[in-house]
Amino acid sequence: MCTRWVVRSASVVCAGVLCISLSPAAAENESAVRETGRLLAVLLDAGRMTIGHNQLLLNDPAKGDKGFTPEVFAEQTRAAFKERTGHDLANLSAATVPEMSKPLLARLLEESKQTVSTYQTVINMPGVKYKGLIPATFGTETGARFQAWSGVYLKQTAPEYLIRNPKNKPDAFEAAEMAKLSEPSFPRVGEQVVSRMAEDGKSMLVLLPLFYKKDCLNCHGAPKGERDVTGYPREGAQEGDLGGAISVKLPMP
Ligand code: HEC
Repeated sequence: MCTRWVVRSASVVCAGVLCISLSPAAAENESAVRETGRLLAVLLDAGRMTIGHNQLLLNDPAKGDKGFTPEVFAEQTRAAFKERTGHDLANLSAATVPEMSKPLLARLLEESKQTVSTYQTVINMPGVKYKGLIPATFGTETGARFQAWSGVYLKQTAPEYLIRNPKNKPDAFEAAEMAKLSEPSFPRVGEQVVSRMAEDGKSMLVLLPLFYKKDCLNCHGAPKGERDVTGYPREGAQEGDLGGAISVKLPMP
């Protein structure tokens, strides 16, 4: 069953669309929702990157126990998240993040650990190279479970020409924004998201771009067409190219 996530804010007193878009309280509210979306996307990506950094260890057929427990994963992910956002998930109650984001971030980290937990038997098997735990499978599985709990849409997507898994196909908003993000003029540094209020004013759409780094090119890089360790043909991408995005849709309080 899916439990809908609802946040109530006492500061928003008016209900009309015009009123919501003009009052300062609503603007503040809007920026809290946008920041919540950004933080969730960065946390999912921090988990993806942690899997990526440990990929050689995870794929090592000569080694049995990898020592890559959910706790080890969580510690590295918290460190990466802190480096990217300045916020400490180990002390979330004191963090200067929007109140509404706190239970969501805590739950997303739990779901991330859960994903790593479900792979323990497989990743500790000696003699096997590819075990199915890669940044993309981590992101898909964690996003789906988090969404089932919270009702907050959280997924990774990519431009149509890169799509490997049809379930990750972009919707119209995601496709249009990714076209802009793929422009070389869009900055490749920092944690810039693009966001927009849905037309009905009921939800906020936030997109965090994923640019290919060296780690990614073992599978998505050159030579184009040659199969990677997972069996998919490589895309021939280069470092800095847009690989996709993490997409979040949050209901407006
Ligand atoms: C070990 C190989 C491997 C590595 C390393 C890897 N990917 Fe992938 N990537 C895949 C596979 C396989 C899929 C499709 C997974 C599936 O079937 O859901 C995928 C899917 C994706 C998707 C989702 C869209 C789609 O095509 O379905 C994005 C976005 C993505 N990768 C970006 C990246 C980025 C950015 C990095 C580096 C941080 C990276 N990948 C590293 C193999 C890899």
